[in-house]
Amino acid sequence: MGTLTDFATVGPAYTAHSRTARGRLRHDLVARRLLAELPPDPVRILDAGCGDGEMTLRLAAAGHHVTAADPSADMLARTARRLIARPELDQRVRLLKAGIDELPADGSHFDVVCCHGVLMYLADTPGPYARLAALVGSGGLLSVLTKNRSAIGFREALRGDYPAAHHLIELGADTSIGNLGLATRGDTADELDRLAAEHGLTPLSWQGIRVFTDHHDDWNPAPDTYAQALETEWAASTRDPYRQLGRLVHTLARRGPAGATP
Ligand SMILES: C[S@@+](CC[C@H](N)C(=O)[O-])C[C@H]1O[C@@H](n2cnc3c(N)ncnc32)[C@H](O)[C@@H]1O
Repeated sequence: MGTLTDFATVGPAYTAHSRTARGRLRHDLVARRLLAELPPDPVRILDAGCGDGEMTLRLAAAGHHVTAADPSADMLARTARRLIARPELDQRVRLLKAGIDELPADGSHFDVVCCHGVLMYLADTPGPYARLAALVGSGGLLSVLTKNRSAIGFREALRGDYPAAHHLIELGADTSIGNLGLATRGDTADELDRLAAEHGLTPLSWQGIRVFTDHHDDWNPAPDTYAQALETEWAASTRDPYRQLGRLVHTLARRGPAGATP
């Protein structure tokens, strides 16, 4: 699988997906968990592969200082445009045109390093994971969201595309077609937690994201239905066996004892 470093061609499709109820549900579940792990006082956060800045803006709105990094000029421009509409956050966000490979290796550390929705587009996980882990300071947190390899084929089956689902499941595939029409690679929570331990981080409990709602293509729920779905997904996201079937896996790991805060 080739790597994708220029999102300019799929940027509009990504932003459109991110605004759907399905896209929003993912952001709501991940932000809720991540913010619950952060102290109330401002911390320094790196959002690696920030895309159009959804998580960057949410974290800055919670008072944190965010370096929003992305190798795509188009995606950074999308974040910059959203920041213009939120001038109160401007002082807390720094934009950096850099991929994971180009992030500073000068010993600088962050209290939190996020890498959400990026690893699935890259050729491998251990290399980028090592670079991200090296940027996590003492007591700091690494938050990784990527495609859940354990559930590949589940979306296709629920949509009724049985030939595709059958093929993926029987093959034990690690790659399938994602929301942007691109082939994306999955990882398992166990593998990610193992990588965390290899890099001196203590894994926290992981979340499965979008268990019951992932296959709803044109989902446009009323606000109260959305709220009920969100709470149901939230309850399932940390419980077996449900979380194992989430489309995405969100792992968290801390440098130092699991209870330490940055
Ligand atoms: C699907 S978007 C996810 C954006 C955002 N983090 C989110 O969760 O919505 C993937 C992003 O990864 C970026 N990207 C691609 N290759 C990258 C790399 N090597 N290092 C960091 N980001 C990369 C793309 O430019 C794009 O903005």
